[in-house]
Amino acid sequence: MLDRRSFLGSAAAASIATPLGAEALSSLPLPASDMFGKDPDGYWKALRGQFLIPTDVVNLNVGTVGSSPRPVLKAIFDGFMDTERMTQARSEDYPIWGYGPWEEYRAPFAAFMGARTEQMAILRNCTEANSYVANGFDMKPGDEVLISDEEHGSGEMPWMLRQRRYGVVVKKFALPKPPKNAAEILNRINEAITPRTRIIFVSHISTATGVVLPAKEIAALARSKGIVSAFDGAHAPGMIKVDLNDIGCDIYTGSMHKWLFATKGTGFLYLRDKSVMDRVWNTIATGGYDDPTRMADRYMQIGSSCIPTLMGLNAAIALADQIGMDRIEARGRMLADYIHAGMMERGAESWTSPDPYLRGAIATVNVPGVQRMELQDWLWTNHKVRIRGGNPSKLRLATPYFMSKADIDRFLGLYDQFRRTKGLA
Ligand SMILES: Cc1ncc(COP(=O)(O)O)c(C=O)c1O
Repeated sequence: MLDRRSFLGSAAAASIATPLGAEALSSLPLPASDMFGKDPDGYWKALRGQFLIPTDVVNLNVGTVGSSPRPVLKAIFDGFMDTERMTQARSEDYPIWGYGPWEEYRAPFAAFMGARTEQMAILRNCTEANSYVANGFDMKPGDEVLISDEEHGSGEMPWMLRQRRYGVVVKKFALPKPPKNAAEILNRINEAITPRTRIIFVSHISTATGVVLPAKEIAALARSKGIVSAFDGAHAPGMIKVDLNDIGCDIYTGSMHKWLFATKGTGFLYLRDKSVMDRVWNTIATGGYDDPTRMADRYMQIGSSCIPTLMGLNAAIALADQIGMDRIEARGRMLADYIHAGMMERGAESWTSPDPYLRGAIATVNVPGVQRMELQDWLWTNHKVRIRGGNPSKLRLATPYFMSKADIDRFLGLYDQFRRTKGLA
């Protein structure tokens, strides 16, 4: 946790703490779209400049949390400066959301995700959304939920809580490391389904390995057996193009603060239609929670929440749309392939699927002999390179669009240096 003294002492914090700082945030124009064709390196470099991350820092861990770029920060800070004046036009308006439909924020995000506004509830993070699903999905004791062995704690624990408290049964299937192709994953799921399976809840993109699960095919498999399909898409928005209605799943949750670089404190819950909503009880309730005509909006009645958060979300969507999700997705994949190839040359074991269909902007490798926590600390403390992984020796390398090949080369060189100092190379 940052102490107050070091926070106030940081130059970036000082420059963004005042209205003047908020103005300064917009003073760096975004690159023109046609620069992408003429000078792609210059284009991505100009976008790198939108992030306050110092130029000598390499952040290979967007997987945990993103960094909001200038347009998003400006929207947030301007939002506070405006809403806190308490001069809202209508006498019933206050600077809070959590009691109304808030379509001006729900609609752009729903459109960005290939959904209709009435299918989308904006919540405060993916953990909250997953808790809504696990806590609220109508099940009897003995009914089963099928999850993978790679769910994040925020996906698995809400179900474990439900199991302990109400006697539903959590069943797990193992994802191969790595899966060769989609069929291998689908077979594992199919084999684990029983007559008591009511819902399949899996990550769209695994937090453990970055593998992109075949969501459309999993949803179709579930539907063919009369089972509800639910995805934890914490990593998907802003990393890959998502079209929720095309996936055809029943339920989908996620975070916008990771790869979309929106405000911390943004998550969502998508429910396909009223028949699904009729099976999901609210977890948080205030007036309107039980009004079915409100569709997904009724899951947004969560009490006083922060409007500038949503303003930052709209700015994050506008930025992603301006760049284009096709470009963002292709860039992230290209960089992940590049770092993955570099690690393969160094003898790493791949936990990233060889099938391009299952790959996104996270490459994961296992490097037996290297203590990942030791490497992670050394890289950050001595070289300002941030990675994350799992013990004892898994490295998760997340490559956002603002990264460059030179950043990756720097990481690879440091990895070589670390191994030499440990006598491993
Ligand atoms: C797959 C997955 N689900 C859920 C979460 C939790 O997200 P949040 O912090 O937005 O609640 C994470 C965070 O890393 C995640 O990777």
